[in-house]
Amino acid sequence: MNASPLLEMRQVVKRYRTPAGAYPALKGLDLTVYPGEFLGILGKSGAGKSTLLNMITGVDRPTEGEIWMQTEEGRVGLHLLDEDALARWRGRNIGVVYQSFQLLPMLTLVENVMLPIDLSGDYHPRLSRQRALELLDMVELSAHAHKTPDLISGGQQQRVAIARALANDPALLVADEPTGSLDTVTADAIFTMFERLVQTGKTIIMVTHDQGLLPRFSRHLFLHDGQWTSPEEALS
Ligand SMILES: Nc1ncnc2c1ncn2[C@@H]1O[C@H](COP(=O)(O)OP(=O)(O)OP(=O)(O)O)[C@@H](O)[C@H]1O
Ligand SMILES: [Mg+2]
Repeated sequence: MNASPLLEMRQVVKRYRTPAGAYPALKGLDLTVYPGEFLGILGKSGAGKSTLLNMITGVDRPTEGEIWMQTEEGRVGLHLLDEDALARWRGRNIGVVYQSFQLLPMLTLVENVMLPIDLSGDYHPRLSRQRALELLDMVELSAHAHKTPDLISGGQQQRVAIARALANDPALLVADEPTGSLDTVTADAIFTMFERLVQTGKTIIMVTHDQGLLPRFSRHLFLHDGQWTSPEEALS
């Protein structure tokens, strides 16, 4: 590939502090992701998948190693940013989708989608509502814009969460088991939505337990005990 990488992780180690001592959840991971990839990450429970995604989103920090991301402002070393800069960087450059949707229950759908737009300060308040409604339209939920999340289904809530993740037009979308709480038909609709986003130029890194999805990623990797490994070891 000719393009420069969107994401480069070099020898990333994450140790959690526990009462029993330091627990190594990531043991020196390298990862290079190019623009336009749809990367699937698989591995058993406890393999370190969510820990890895938290390093990429800047929700948590590596104990050792480097994480570089290409942005419109140039190449940024996440491991070099302080907390405030990291939070600002995350708000502008990353969209995150979780298994459990994580919508705010007291806000309407359009307000949920507006929230990251308003926090970024990139849009005038009037425009942020308009942009949120456009995003809800893209996920075919504009008819429900003024409902609260408890009044729509799980699949619909996940579509709102995707709209929210796209609010600041991030180059990279990161999804941690986004279809894990959904029935198979709804899960497939969500996955198809990710495939379309990749076709429009987004880069997506997605954690899943569903081996049936493997042929649909542009690439996949297996994690086992904090290290890249073979499918046999990862899934045995
Ligand atoms: N905050 C924490 N403090 C201590 N240990 C942690 C912490 N978070 C995760 N761990 C441990 O690190 C390891 C990796 O956890 P992680 O959540 O990344 O796994 P996972 O692959 O996402 O699993 P799952 O498929 O169940 O979501 C596990 O052994 C877990 O118990
Ligand atoms: Mg996890």
